[in-house]
Amino acid sequence: MTDRREFLKGTMWLGAMAALSGKASAAVKLADSGTMSGFAAPAIKEVRIGVAGLGMRGPSAVHRLASIPGVKVAALCDLLPERVEAQNAWLKANGYGAAVPYVGAEAYKAMCESDLDLIYIVTPWKLHTPIALYAMEHGKHAAIEVPSAMYLDECWALVETSERTRRHCMQLENCCYGEIEMLSLNLARNGKFGEIVHAEGAYIHDLRELNYLDPQKGGYQGYWRLKWNTEHYGNPYATHGLVPVMQAMNVNRGDRFDYLTCVSSDQFGMDAYAKVKFGEGSWQAKLHPKCGDMSTTVIKTVNGKTIMVQHDVTSARPYSRINLVSGTQGILKGIGRDYDFQIALAEAPGEGAHAWLDKEAANRLADEYQHPLWKVAGEIAQKVGGHGGMDFLMDLRLCYCLQNGLPLDMDVYDLAASCAVAELSERSALHRGDSQDVPDFTRGGWKTAKPLGIETIDQAMIDRLTNVKKDESQLNV
Ligand SMILES: NC(=O)c1ccc[n+]([C@@H]2O[C@H](COP(=O)([O-])OP(=O)(O)OC[C@H]3O[C@@H](n4cnc5c(N)ncnc54)[C@H](O)[C@@H]3O)[C@@H](O)[C@H]2O)c1
Repeated sequence: MTDRREFLKGTMWLGAMAALSGKASAAVKLADSGTMSGFAAPAIKEVRIGVAGLGMRGPSAVHRLASIPGVKVAALCDLLPERVEAQNAWLKANGYGAAVPYVGAEAYKAMCESDLDLIYIVTPWKLHTPIALYAMEHGKHAAIEVPSAMYLDECWALVETSERTRRHCMQLENCCYGEIEMLSLNLARNGKFGEIVHAEGAYIHDLRELNYLDPQKGGYQGYWRLKWNTEHYGNPYATHGLVPVMQAMNVNRGDRFDYLTCVSSDQFGMDAYAKVKFGEGSWQAKLHPKCGDMSTTVIKTVNGKTIMVQHDVTSARPYSRINLVSGTQGILKGIGRDYDFQIALAEAPGEGAHAWLDKEAANRLADEYQHPLWKVAGEIAQKVGGHGGMDFLMDLRLCYCLQNGLPLDMDVYDLAASCAVAELSERSALHRGDSQDVPDFTRGGWKTAKPLGIETIDQAMIDRLTNVKKDESQLNV
């Protein structure tokens, strides 16, 4: 059973929902309250944000958000008091004023109940959905780091709750704001690829050192990522490569995922690394994580398109998100880290799409079709930092849309469809690549939903960005 919506309407769903939201009395009304596609909430002049999770990623989010005009980081929450204190010290030292501190495993509840507009969630994966549900149940919009949900039930819970509460629930997929991904989207909207037939995305990033790094020495809190990879198979982290190509291909907005199949290699990389780094008798060498090194998922859409998405965080190879979009008239493909690409177009003189454009011609095209958001705010975003500027552009667009009462670039259906890959790829990979139906989280809404446009910010916001400073703490890997 892959489409669990009918099932979830039963009493088990009420219990699951109550448990996830932490609200024993959460009586869930399951009448559709309307689609969230194109949904815009009333404009918020000053966006008051509470940030949950202040580990490796959270502090850089605090700094970016605080620097956006019309935004106040008003609350900070973590398990560990020193992490809240450190960010409050940073806010004060940089003239933003202290935030209300919330400390402890359940402290996010009091934060969600307080006077805020948006809860920005940067915790370990398993907490993403429970905190977001609690936030929406208490009238707050939710922005959740990737992947926002790990299970189909969580995807459905976020969809149902966002629809019923009429609160935004956005996945913080920063890669949609990468310069190459946005160039690709703009080229797609200008018809340069013709009909897009196939795309490829990935998260290929050797995280072995980080996975085993002691939490006391800056590693993942409680080894949460290592634990997940020890217990699970398939692709738990599909969204970086997947969501940008979903946008270019109008998934959930004219097309939708139909089914997927996944085949994973066994795991070799973690064991090999642990044996050398920690010794054969070490607990690390005896752990034998289950998650295969290379996982390859292929998704078929109802309109007949395909997307390949890979996950490999345990092999010795350079970082890549692949970023390939291929159509009847051309192809673009990312190279290496993030910021380089190759392109071939049927309309090119000479060999057409049989040869990649030379660097000069590719750069001319990239200048001409640079995404307008990058044109107006790319320089400032690069100055701030954060994966080459894309993290800042993501937060900027999110806050700009909230301030102006506009639909967000990514809605809860984009979140659900991309996060569904975690459970479905695992099921498929465990059964020799058996195909798995992907639920239609839009329940038919994809047929009429409008594709994402080429969106930017207005001059008033650009004028207010002049004082935004470089932030040394931004993550670039
Ligand atoms: N989009 C990106 O490029 C990107 C990059 C890095 C990480 N991430 C995502 O960010 C999230 C956090 O990753 P990280 O590397 O910062 O992990 P981390 O372990 O360094 O940080 C997690 C933080 O959450 C805190 N936490 C744990 N339980 C909590 C609770 N109940 N309430 C409040 N706080 C709690 C921990 O104490 C820790 O400070 C993950 O979802 C990860 O996938 C995204």
